[in-house]
Amino acid sequence: MSTIETERPKARYALGHSPEEYDRLRTQARVWEDATGRLLDGVGLGPGASCLDAGCGPGETMRLMAERAGPSGRVVGIDTDASLGAMAVETLHYAGHRQCSFHAQDLTGGDPIPGEPFDLVYARLLLFHLPQRAAVLARLWDAVAPGGHLLVQDYDIRGITVLPELATVGELGRVITGVFHAVGADVHTGARLPQLFTQAGIGYPDGTDVAGRLEPLATGSALLERTFRSVLPTAVAHGIITEADAAASLAALDRDATRFAGSPMTWPLLIGAWKRKGRA
Ligand SMILES: C[S@@+](CC[C@H](N)C(=O)[O-])C[C@H]1O[C@@H](n2cnc3c(N)ncnc32)[C@H](O)[C@@H]1O
Repeated sequence: MSTIETERPKARYALGHSPEEYDRLRTQARVWEDATGRLLDGVGLGPGASCLDAGCGPGETMRLMAERAGPSGRVVGIDTDASLGAMAVETLHYAGHRQCSFHAQDLTGGDPIPGEPFDLVYARLLLFHLPQRAAVLARLWDAVAPGGHLLVQDYDIRGITVLPELATVGELGRVITGVFHAVGADVHTGARLPQLFTQAGIGYPDGTDVAGRLEPLATGSALLERTFRSVLPTAVAHGIITEADAAASLAALDRDATRFAGSPMTWPLLIGAWKRKGRA
């Protein structure tokens, strides 16, 4: 079992930057691989395309883009986390996807986006974390080439359920939601995507998509546990929970995951929205 990282000053980004968090992001990305691949295919991503993955994290979606865009295409990842981006590109190059590159950049700043415009600008689980959601979305739209697409996927955590309802799951949910609220994130970003597109001056999306996942609590509880561990230092810094109560909550969840191993649990909904930019 990994140790709990507990010291983190009040941060704008609630999740961690540890090897455990990077592994959690990779695992999460593989869960949603089909749901994302389906939408990449839906917007017609094909050979020769230029793509931007905004907030690319471990680069799992960059790989899906590279597989479709092929060697004549171009895939750029941007993220504030330079070491995660460097690891992503190393893995992608090792796998033969030499058309991938990475730039460390804070997308809430006004800097130009290297390599713009792109045939596809994509962001998954990025806007959720940013208080400046509409402004960043407008900036991403500016980076779309005429005739290209903006495609966004984000969570609505109301999708998380377990039957029967369990106080242990509720407590972890309270802390996770509390942390995200404290840093200005919006846990319903997915459901709000059409509104955000409109607010950003893009117009109502051409299409939307909702993906979900159902699994037994025995395995599904890992999602909650790992997310809880990732936000815990920020939760402690904001006074949302103490380290002692966190340890007790994790132990209680462990017991429930054994006792109610077969209980059905659903993940947050992953909601997608896309828009094609007209040709001038
Ligand atoms: C939850 S992860 C999602 C990663 C990836 N898109 C995926 O779905 O697997 C969010 C990512 O956004 C990055 N991020 C957060 N704030 C950012 C910002 N202001 N500019 C660029 N990237 C940011 C984080 O470093 C992190 O890698």
